[in-house]
Amino acid sequence: MGFIEDISAAAEIIRNAHAVTLISHIDADGITSEAIAAQAVARLGIPVTPVFVRQLEPLTMRHVPDDDTLKVFTDLGAGQQNLMEEAGMKADDVLILDHHINQPAPNGTIYPQVNAQLYGPEYAKCSAAGIVYMLARKLDPDNADLAELAVVGNVGDMMARETCGLTGIARWIAEDGAQTGRVRITKGINCYGLSTRPLHLCLANSDDPILPGLSGDPKAAADLLIRLGIYEKSTDQRVWESLEADEAKLLTSIIAEQMIANGESTERLFAELYFFPHETELSPLRNASEYATMLNACGRWAKPKIGEAVCFGDRGTQYREAEHMLRHHRTIIRELCEHILSAGVTDAGHLQWIHTRDTYPDTIVGIGAGMALSKLDPSKPIMVLCYVSDEPDLVKISMRTYEKVLRRGVDLQAALVAAAAEFDGAGGGHNIAAGAYIPKGCEDDFIRRVNELIAGQFAAGAPHR
Ligand code: C5P
Ligand code: C5P
Ligand code: C5P
Repeated sequence: MGFIEDISAAAEIIRNAHAVTLISHIDADGITSEAIAAQAVARLGIPVTPVFVRQLEPLTMRHVPDDDTLKVFTDLGAGQQNLMEEAGMKADDVLILDHHINQPAPNGTIYPQVNAQLYGPEYAKCSAAGIVYMLARKLDPDNADLAELAVVGNVGDMMARETCGLTGIARWIAEDGAQTGRVRITKGINCYGLSTRPLHLCLANSDDPILPGLSGDPKAAADLLIRLGIYEKSTDQRVWESLEADEAKLLTSIIAEQMIANGESTERLFAELYFFPHETELSPLRNASEYATMLNACGRWAKPKIGEAVCFGDRGTQYREAEHMLRHHRTIIRELCEHILSAGVTDAGHLQWIHTRDTYPDTIVGIGAGMALSKLDPSKPIMVLCYVSDEPDLVKISMRTYEKVLRRGVDLQAALVAAAAEFDGAGGGHNIAAGAYIPKGCEDDFIRRVNELIAGQFAAGAPHR
């Protein structure tokens, strides 16, 4: 079926429900998916109960209540329909709203599903929050006030990264938000921290693209800003978002000239940016990528409900807690990234790996892997292995790679799903970012097997999906 049919069928399923349990993922896309769905369902007068899980696996399935509510799975579920079937869930009691690779239930139960992966390229770069938003919009056009949450979910799941801006249906959603004035779409520099980070630190932190003479050198960045009259002194704290249009233009054209002089492409210097003008200036809620980091900080540190409260509009006690979570998250991610770089990865031939054991929680190692990869060999996927605190028999695997490696045939989701199954584990995710759980003790064999599978993917060349 096509998208319109599937979304219409999903809207009917929701309208006919007498009560809904929302099962969602703990990252920015999962939290925004949940927040959009919860509000859209509640506005219909249907009671709704949220359940956040770090991943749908046999142990977390026990958090899904065995009652007569409609179970709506957001940002997960597509890859775990086997677990739903094993738990005896009937097709009538389930709705999946997802963007992970579909793995049908082995005994043939067809669960109703709206999945961004099923409708071609216009939808392929749309996260779960985008799908949930389209459903909310179908239920009631007034739900357009939730567009900014869908933009945060999409940006949080890196849907804008490769193309330096959202595309397809995700871009349409941003425009939908712009119509109500809640989203401001602009072009600007492709850096992180545009609303909260002093500009020299923002420039110095940039690693994609590398800014010649500025990346890694806050003093040089501050000196440039003084020279351009943007800073008065090196201790200035102005942020990108506060620049006048002519200042922004001057700064980016100077940086572009530097890149060109160095023979580098300026393709990734500019990006489309998504700001939320009604939020407080200098707060991380002012733009989509910083908002997403705040939600990740809540969810990945076991406080998804704090993130949910922020999405619902809390700017008091819960928001202050979220700020605290964000500071903590940043510190630990930075440490993790430094740890990966200083301890060093082992080159297995076709992937590079590191086992962080119990030093960092399993919920964040993937983020650290993604950030460290820009400073490692970008042509080989990275794998981080770690222990799982409350499940002593398991090892968590997180893998990340780049789009240009995908173009050479690599598919991390396929490799991890196949390898994990051979070791009685379970994997899933995306071709570019995937994860798995495997039993403790078989790590060496597992790494060897994934390395072999990735070698095969490189050898086969062109993408096979
Ligand atoms: O569940 P899952 O979709 O949550 O994974 C999200 C993670 O995968 C994020 O940390 C994001 O960095 C990464 N990701 C990515 N590119 C994609 C999709 C996800 O890097 N296209
Ligand atoms: O730079 P700093 O160490 O303060 O930032 C760490 C946090 O910021 C991480 O949570 C990371 O997810 C987020 N971040 C990001 N994208 C970047 C840089 C940082 O999401 N390019
Ligand atoms: O945990 P991490 O951020 O590395 O996850 C990367 C991607 O793999 C996410 O999309 C996550 O939902 C997925 N994943 C999965 N099954 C697992 C672990 C992760 O589908 N067992």
